[in-house]
Amino acid sequence: MIVCSCNVLTKVRIIAAADRLLRDDPNRPVTAGRIFRALGVRPNCGTCFSLIRQIIAEAGLSFTCPEPLASEAEDLPGIDKIAAE
Ligand code: FES
Repeated sequence: MIVCSCNVLTKVRIIAAADRLLRDDPNRPVTAGRIFRALGVRPNCGTCFSLIRQIIAEAGLSFTCPEPLASEAEDLPGIDKIAAE
């Protein structure tokens, strides 16, 4: 199935790239942009991004970020001062 018609990217290639990115760096979010870079292409129209996110999530490769990072940030000195501004 072609997911990105601008670059003729298939679902299989996208999942493989996402899997590789996640294995290479499990702490970094797998984004459509990173997948494009990993595959050596550039997005053109961007209409495939939401489908790419959905495919990644359905494949169980989703990375939801900031909860741990946010709780770590709350411990930073002066963060309460920044939040109050
Ligand atoms: S369909 Fe993917 S960039 Fe256009």
